Amino acid sequence: MTDPRRNVELKAVDPDPEETLRRALAAGAEDRGLLRQRDTYFAVSGGRLKLREQDDGATLIAYRRADEARERPSAYHLVSVPDPGALRAALGDVPGVRVVVEKHRRLLIWERTVRIHLDTVTGLDGAFVEIEAVAGPGSDLAREHDQVARLRAILTIADDMIRGGSYSDLLAGGPDEELLALARAARARAYAPYSNFPVGAALRTTDGHTYSGANVENAAFPQGQCAEASAIGAMVAGGGGRIAAVAVAGEEGRMVTPCGGCRQRLREFAGDAVPIHLGTARTVTLGELLPLSFGPEDL
Ligand code: THU
Repeated sequence: MTDPRRNVELKAVDPDPEETLRRALAAGAEDRGLLRQRDTYFAVSGGRLKLREQDDGATLIAYRRADEARERPSAYHLVSVPDPGALRAALGDVPGVRVVVEKHRRLLIWERTVRIHLDTVTGLDGAFVEIEAVAGPGSDLAREHDQVARLRAILTIADDMIRGGSYSDLLAGGPDEELLALARAARARAYAPYSNFPVGAALRTTDGHTYSGANVENAAFPQGQCAEASAIGAMVAGGGGRIAAVAVAGEEGRMVTPCGGCRQRLREFAGDAVPIHLGTARTVTLGELLPLSFGPEDL
């Protein structure tokens, strides 16, 4: 059993967890009780790696999934860990811990293979509901997508309740709404007639100023400029400074990451720990996007 397992999952904020529980039970879900979980996320790039410790044991979970705020397939490995303290210490050293997520979870099972999680997370306001339809071997995921859709209707989960990313992303700063709004406004003014791929970027400096920019394309294609470069230009012309946070906005619901060149442009004015909000889907650090980087202090 070394192939990854797969599921289709959905995460949403839950304004009324008691009503969600009532609806789930009325639909035949089985209550498996309350769990206390502590997830330690390690600082890996590409996918996610977390150690889950709960009352009945510890599991190392490695997974990949899209970060969009909608139902999404995920492939994951589960490895049971006999000595979680030693593993936490080892991976805490290399590659290091990104964030620790502590949560209380009520687990329910619906139609034998669908997990319903009613969660509260230390440090995050309110409650969350997750649906995970675990796939059978060889499934084309059609059944699992259908299960998620039906359960979503039963639990009345509205579009604007759905969240992308993981609890670790929401905790690691969460999306910076003010900066994202500036990035979206800049995107709306982008000049991208050749790619039809408008992008907006916004920066906050350590002294609290904000600047934004959009991509500006050109009939001579290589002369086009990325949104991040435009925002950096606005910052320099507006008085300069050091960058404390960045937001990048592409088309709604689609995650855009800075190109390689712009990662280096940002590095000129930002350190490794600076958060980069990739829309609302995910927040990463510059160090994750550009490891082992070369910067002005290396000259
Ligand atoms: N683009 C940006 O402005 N920022 C990014 O982070 C990725 C790509 C622009 C460049 C070009 O105008 C268009 O998107 C398509 O590559």
